[in-house]
Amino acid sequence: MKKEKSLIREEILSIKPYIPGKPIEEVKRELGLKEVIKLASNETSIGPSPLAVEAIKKEADNVNLYPDGSSRILREKLAQKLKLDKEMIIIANGGDNIIKLTGMAFINKDDEVIMGEITFPVYESVVKIMGGKIIPVKLKDYTYDLESIIQRVNKRTKLIVVCNPNNPTGTIVTKEAVDKFMRNVPEDVIVVFDEAYCDYVEDDNYPDSLSYVREGKNVIVLRTFSKIAGLAGIRVGYAIAKQELIGYLRRVVDIFSVNRLAQVAALASLDDEEHKRKVLRLNKEGKGYLYKELKKLGLFYVPTETNFIFIDLKKDTKVIFEELLKKGIIIRPGVTWGCPDFIRVTIGTPYENKKFIQALKEVISI
Ligand SMILES: Cc1ncc(COP(=O)(O)O)c(C=O)c1O
Repeated sequence: MKKEKSLIREEILSIKPYIPGKPIEEVKRELGLKEVIKLASNETSIGPSPLAVEAIKKEADNVNLYPDGSSRILREKLAQKLKLDKEMIIIANGGDNIIKLTGMAFINKDDEVIMGEITFPVYESVVKIMGGKIIPVKLKDYTYDLESIIQRVNKRTKLIVVCNPNNPTGTIVTKEAVDKFMRNVPEDVIVVFDEAYCDYVEDDNYPDSLSYVREGKNVIVLRTFSKIAGLAGIRVGYAIAKQELIGYLRRVVDIFSVNRLAQVAALASLDDEEHKRKVLRLNKEGKGYLYKELKKLGLFYVPTETNFIFIDLKKDTKVIFEELLKKGIIIRPGVTWGCPDFIRVTIGTPYENKKFIQALKEVISI
């Protein structure tokens, strides 16, 4: 034991490895199932952008060559879409990688990082890796409580993470709340808005976080091609911030972290309005269907601005998770976030949603 401790950095010892949603192949093999429906990782149920797939096929012949380490063409296209300078964008190996780069560039040992108590677990592990201190703040009505967060800011605060919409609760903080919050954040604190699910938001009160970047504030906005574009398997995400902050992230990014296929796929998906419309339409319909069925079952759920729903089953959901798994439905048990009575379910295709409700009805009283 003593030897192990001397080999490993002290900061790493308290980190639990991230447990992702079980892959479909693994569940099929383990349980001998022919059909498995995965509603556990908030992927795009109708598949990737067809334009992206076409671009990947075309690019496949060039994979003997290293990719452009700066993803210049993709940054230019994003910059044009977002009406920003391309030097204000960095592309990385998924949004997860952006979170890690942010930690590597900015978090010193013992720096405090404030975040919601129930939120995306990757923030916590990155802060721990860097030796920082996590300051968790309770959610209010399943939503980031920016007023309480501000009260926790002190001279040791380096970073505040606002997951908006929040994973796993699916809620947003409004423009009004963020405006007030931003007026009170000290200049030497960086605010990260994780907007992995921004494309799904229907509420008109969703804030325009890029306006704070344009004002020159210390704000980093994280976005990803994993969700709306359906490219989770190819790993592309990006950060938007003022040039100075992006410059620091560039110092720590792996040289070729975004491969050729990822770059062309992301680029092509930006033009795929049809796929995007289809994803949003199906999500809205699926949301309506699930709300209706959950109400019929008398279950509480948190109204969502994303492609997943956080549902209260009023009992430990570990068994329910296992029973659903046996029926070929993979969801996320709330124990991941210290909410053992909840499950988080991705909104799937009409067929998948129906299968989930059918299976839930069968296992709910177990
Ligand atoms: C809130 C949030 N942020 C960031 C990510 C990272 O996404 P990716 O690494 O696939 O781009 C996810 C993925 O599920 C997420 O839920």
